[in-house]
Amino acid sequence: MKELSVLNLLGINELTKSDIDLIFKTADSFKEVINRQIKKVPTLRDITIANLFFENSTRTKLSFELAQKRLSADIVNFSASNSSLTKGESLIDTANNILSMKVDMIVMRHPHSGAAKFLSEKTNTVIINAGDGTHEHPTQALLDSYSIKEKLGGVKGKKVVLVGDIKHSRVALSNIFALKKLGAKVMVCGPTTLIPKYIKHLGVEVEHDLKKAIKWCDVANMLRIQLERQDIQYFPSIREYTHQFQLNKEILEITKKPITILHPGPINRGVEITSEIADSEHSIILNQVENGVAIRMAIIYLLAGSINRS
Ligand code: CP
Repeated sequence: MKELSVLNLLGINELTKSDIDLIFKTADSFKEVINRQIKKVPTLRDITIANLFFENSTRTKLSFELAQKRLSADIVNFSASNSSLTKGESLIDTANNILSMKVDMIVMRHPHSGAAKFLSEKTNTVIINAGDGTHEHPTQALLDSYSIKEKLGGVKGKKVVLVGDIKHSRVALSNIFALKKLGAKVMVCGPTTLIPKYIKHLGVEVEHDLKKAIKWCDVANMLRIQLERQDIQYFPSIREYTHQFQLNKEILEITKKPITILHPGPINRGVEITSEIADSEHSIILNQVENGVAIRMAIIYLLAGSINRS
């Protein structure tokens, strides 16, 4: 069996193109499985996985749980609000106590950038990063690129624009790494205040005019404004932001070619995207969610092979 070059999934930056190709090929098989009448395989019957979510999640948490159940793994779920963290226990103590119960793998979402890497250095288990602060959200980027490949037949050479709050978005950073590794041309578009200066060094184009970005691209990945991460006000008002950066029918009419539309969710309908466009024939938002289960099954399956290597 082919192996990934990593023992943990901490970020896309650490993956090779061959790793991503292997994850996609494995996900193809699992996508077939989850569309069967019996959507389950016995592959990971002897594996126990803990899902540690220190931050809210709908899609990622449910998608990981379903992926684990489809692989027949045993799972335990942990959320920060009803745990002993509220009594002052540290992340490492919490993790080590969970691992003492013979858990083989941890999936973790955490509000602090670097939390997954920190845990991987302090524990002897397999860690999957389900989103760490403003750093990376690797499984989201993999399912996004996989969905583009499925819709357009490939990622190489495609022009992809990420629109919105690039500064606070882990989805944006992971997408940039994944898309560049797969040979796409990448642009970011948003207000000057929400585009970090370092972004140009990642080999992406920067555009502040949504109309120009839409004329340029084949694919638009619309991002939510991450108000919960913003310490100051980065634009005058939501109304002003919507006026300049909302993807709507009028903006899309400036280009004659169809644009494939993605959104990682949760969507703020009427802000970054209108309902009409989010629900249109060119939107693959729900395909992304479906593909998320297959991608996460592939990652868990491939990393389970490294349990004895770690
Ligand atoms: N896309 C994403 O990470 O969504 P959740 O926050 O609901 O998991």
